[in-house]
Amino acid sequence: MRKIGILTGGADCPGLNSVIRAVVRKSIDEGFVVTGIKNGWNGLVDNDMRILDYRLTSGILARGGTILGTSRIIPPLEKRRIKLIAENFKRSGMDALIAVGGEDTLKIALQLLDEHALPIVGVPKSIDNSLSGTDYTFGFDTAVNVATECIDRLHTTAESHHRIIVVEVMGLHTGWNALEAGIAGGAHYILIPEYPIEINKVCASLKARHKRGKSFSIIVVAEGAKIEGYQKEDMDRMFRRGRHHIGRIAEILADLIEENTSYETRVSVLGHIQRGGVPTAYDRIIGTRFGFKAVELVRENKFGMMVSLKNSKISYVEIRDAVSQRKMIDADLMEIAKVFYT
Ligand code: F6P
Repeated sequence: MRKIGILTGGADCPGLNSVIRAVVRKSIDEGFVVTGIKNGWNGLVDNDMRILDYRLTSGILARGGTILGTSRIIPPLEKRRIKLIAENFKRSGMDALIAVGGEDTLKIALQLLDEHALPIVGVPKSIDNSLSGTDYTFGFDTAVNVATECIDRLHTTAESHHRIIVVEVMGLHTGWNALEAGIAGGAHYILIPEYPIEINKVCASLKARHKRGKSFSIIVVAEGAKIEGYQKEDMDRMFRRGRHHIGRIAEILADLIEENTSYETRVSVLGHIQRGGVPTAYDRIIGTRFGFKAVELVRENKFGMMVSLKNSKISYVEIRDAVSQRKMIDADLMEIAKVFYT
């Protein structure tokens, strides 16, 4: 009989509970025992864990967040803590670990694999969809749907008041959320971290729309987008403040638009709203498929692997490859978005 541990690390997202539920059900089916580790890697530092059974994992499919709790740890982890995690894992009697998380969580998994040969299988999670090696990370579909609904709502009020509304969505390093929600919501301009914001072009496009009789516009901006040539030192300082900058780019952008066009402008920052609440059916299904596959990988001793989705099929890749570089946005999608800029 195998004893499997499962943890959820990094930012939470809708769909995590589908993975936990699937891991537990598939494990019970296989005759394995599952231990839920609380609050990501911290649960292995503090020895905070408990056996998960049918009862504890029933009724959680539609719940957002994670029943295990989570924590953010930025890799690499110092040697002393990594060693403590490895020792506590070995002492716990578990013989495999399923780490559900994004880039940071899986980088720590890789560190544990390399430095302590821990038997780990990864499951890719992120509302950012920025993990390589998989076409998709669960949580992204829900985040895009939430943002799209918000953009639809903002459209009607922007139109009634003849205003520009700058909608800021999540995405510090990649513009997947902005691009997909922007296209789905019919945004008139989409600004993402991959391309510096050319403020003159944005304003020219807004003016062209006005000339055509459209007195309102929706601009979607990713939290990590940067303005070309604009107060570089301020921008650098702003981004050095780590993750606590949500809302700032939208405010700066709105001020610049108002200054340059004199159109009345408002800001709406979605932030963590995109990460909360009920997962879409797609995220529940992918989460369930990922959880099921993770247990199969454990059964087959395929450690160091991450479950992945490739061309609609569930497969697996090396965790090392998945975290080696970020998955940047699809340039074709950007080309499509641009057609709607005027
Ligand atoms: O990685 C997911 C994410 O939601 C990013 O889009 C965002 O930059 C970050 O997490 C926010 O992190 P926190 O919840 O720690 O503020």
